Amino acid sequence: MSEAFENLAAAAGAGIDAGELVGQLGLDAEPAERGRPRVVAVMIASADGRAAVGGRAGGLGGPADREVLRELRTSADAILVGPATLIEERYSTLLDADHRERRSAAGLPPEPIAVTVSRRLNPQLAQLELFSQPGQRIVVYTESNDVIEASGAELTITRSKPGALSLAGCLEDLYANHGVRTLLSEGGPVLLGALVSELLVDDFIFTVSPMLVAGSARTLLGGRAFEPPLGLELRQLWRSDSFLFLHYTRRR
Ligand SMILES: NC(=O)c1ccc[n+]([C@@H]2O[C@H](COP(=O)([O-])OP(=O)(O)OC[C@H]3O[C@@H](n4cnc5c(N)ncnc54)[C@H](OP(=O)(O)O)[C@@H]3O)[C@@H](O)[C@H]2O)c1
Repeated sequence: MSEAFENLAAAAGAGIDAGELVGQLGLDAEPAERGRPRVVAVMIASADGRAAVGGRAGGLGGPADREVLRELRTSADAILVGPATLIEERYSTLLDADHRERRSAAGLPPEPIAVTVSRRLNPQLAQLELFSQPGQRIVVYTESNDVIEASGAELTITRSKPGALSLAGCLEDLYANHGVRTLLSEGGPVLLGALVSELLVDDFIFTVSPMLVAGSARTLLGGRAFEPPLGLELRQLWRSDSFLFLHYTRRR
């Protein structure tokens, strides 16, 4: 028997907005593994698989992609971002006033918690505007005894002994001590590769940006090759203009 193909790009139907799209993902359900948040990775790549242009992901995006990211942040309890990404993408406010109000109206704190894992505690983190946002809660996991301070945000630093910091342990702490049930992982490729290799990611929202980048920029996942490769199941697929949005879950 031959395989069947559907022409999704030509599919008719009324468009939905980014809020409805994120609502349809059903990200509020608990993951199969108890005691840690549901982890949703969101990443964008060029059509040839590169994760940055000129060292930043922003050049790959468009308005639809930015709206989806804001809606995902609006629905998450916390976001997890690697220290290199926080610095290179110059993280500042996470949400605009409208999205903050929507969270407050839903009984949530106005901003999701911003979480990072930095074994050596990069001192540049404290210079980020994110760290000066009043009311922004930030949780940093580290193996370092160095001190960094936030100039306006509410900073919690959780320290482990050298060699003892584990991503699974961080997720368990977020679940047990910070009430995090949905965690949005915004990359970068190195931290995401580590999370995926430990089977700690439940959902993948990949945007395919309609451009070709070539060169030596990273792909979506860093680290060692997965052997065997990890299987995914396609749950949903949308397009906006020439951008594609794919929702995958891990094949179990
Ligand atoms: N296309 C996209 O969607 C997207 C998304 C995000 C970022 N990016 C791009 O990716 C680049 C930055 O990402 P990146 O991959 O270089 O860095 P990253 O993932 O943001 O940060 C890597 C750092 O995470 C820390 N880390 C802590 N625990 C770890 C563990 N168990 N395994 C691995 N790392 C751990 C390490 O910092 P310490 O050395 O401090 O321990 C490591 O150096 C930028 O160019 C950015 O624009 C693209």
